[in-house]
Amino acid sequence: MLIFDDENQMLKFMVEKWEDILQEGIQRKGYFTVGLSGGKTPIMFYQKLAEWDSKSSWERTQVFLVDERFVSLDNKDSNYRMLRETLLGKIVIPQKNIHPITTGKGSLEASAREYEKDLKSFFKVSKGQMPDFDLILLGIGEDGHTASLFPGSKALSECRRLTAAVVLDEVRHDRISLTLPVINHAEHVIFLARGANKAPVLEKIIGEDDPSLPASMVRPRSGNLLFVIDLEASSQLYA
Ligand code: 6PG
Repeated sequence: MLIFDDENQMLKFMVEKWEDILQEGIQRKGYFTVGLSGGKTPIMFYQKLAEWDSKSSWERTQVFLVDERFVSLDNKDSNYRMLRETLLGKIVIPQKNIHPITTGKGSLEASAREYEKDLKSFFKVSKGQMPDFDLILLGIGEDGHTASLFPGSKALSECRRLTAAVVLDEVRHDRISLTLPVINHAEHVIFLARGANKAPVLEKIIGEDDPSLPASMVRPRSGNLLFVIDLEASSQLYA
């Protein structure tokens, strides 16, 4: 776990870490695959990444979404829209390298299946296997959710599917999410959390290791799990 008391240092670290993992991926197989989360926390990081001038690296980067709300891609609540406005629309990256979760056609389940098809075909996933993402970037909700995997959701027990359609009364929009087996198969998983409102849940996840919370179920088999948090978010840890 890394705790930063300076936002710029935190962002600088994240960009450097991204570059390291990208180089690792490129050396291993010629390209870099990343799953990006929505929410407010990563916005500043995406904006910082957009300033990073590396056309050749973007050409070798494949961007997937960790989750999406079942709204049109130009809706203000769409994660794709946020990513486009903060990062993807500001860099030179081939359109074929961007993998949105399409929501315009058909049902929620059809969108989840469509995204699963895209993942399977890009990663050449055969039966019983999972995609090998180089990096998955996650956020944490105050209730311990991560991606669109919420406490008590059926999607948490999914062990074969790559994507889940998530419908919950307490969540404003229906969602599509990568499943835990996909997240836990990634080479690197980084949680980014900022602000005092995240302190109690971080205490439960890191301090108590509460197994009932979705974020605690993220345990990449590579062992490369990193929490990058600010001072406020860390305030209840080891108190
Ligand atoms: C989303 C997410 C979700 C998010 C957390 C934290 O699409 O909303 O992927 O898991 O990371 O809810 O959100 P904040 O960063 O806004 O606190």
